[in-house]
Amino acid sequence: MSDTDRKLNIGRIIPVIVLDEAKRAQHVARALRDGGMSSIEITMRTSAALQSIEKIAQQMPELMVGAGTVLNVQMAQDAVSAGAEFIVSPGLSESVVEWCLERKIPIFPGVSTPTEIVKALELGVVDMKFFPAEQSGGVQMLKALASPFRNVRFIPTGGIRRGNLKEYLELPNVIACGGSWLCSEKLIQDEKYNLITQLCREAMGNSLNY
Ligand code: 3PG
Repeated sequence: MSDTDRKLNIGRIIPVIVLDEAKRAQHVARALRDGGMSSIEITMRTSAALQSIEKIAQQMPELMVGAGTVLNVQMAQDAVSAGAEFIVSPGLSESVVEWCLERKIPIFPGVSTPTEIVKALELGVVDMKFFPAEQSGGVQMLKALASPFRNVRFIPTGGIRRGNLKEYLELPNVIACGGSWLCSEKLIQDEKYNLITQLCREAMGNSLNY
């Protein structure tokens, strides 16, 4: 188990959440937790993101809440001040990675090419988000990357759904899968919290053996 795993108690599935209203944050977080999720990612794409992170971090300490879509150092600072315990980015920003590593904050920068992986390794990162997973070659690409990059572990995200989750989780170089399919914006807007829990339980059932 790596340091990141220990610090994060990272689950094998990381729900990616877009929240338009902070008042829904705890409902969504509770639904995900009840479905067996231990770590969740709130994307910094809306004005409700920081307040949502803050609420979850304060009121649900059993859940690891991270910030996603972090594009620069200011966003990382804001997210961590609000209580984010890990940072996820769709791309590789040297300054964001350095800022996080200096503070020992787990960071998963986004990569999709060998050159980006080499760059991330040079910066000291071995656990990376593989994004956008399906569009970047999916399972076949991850299999091809396993050989030259033996110590690199990926969190594929982008296009992962119920139907392809298992084949990703079976790969030895995949630590977790991220995605929005368990708590889509539509499910959140319609306040289908029970359905979110149900989808999570089903996904967890698929993930337990891998
Ligand atoms: C992300 O925000 O990381 C991705 O947009 C999630 O991709 P998905 O919506 O296809 O799961």
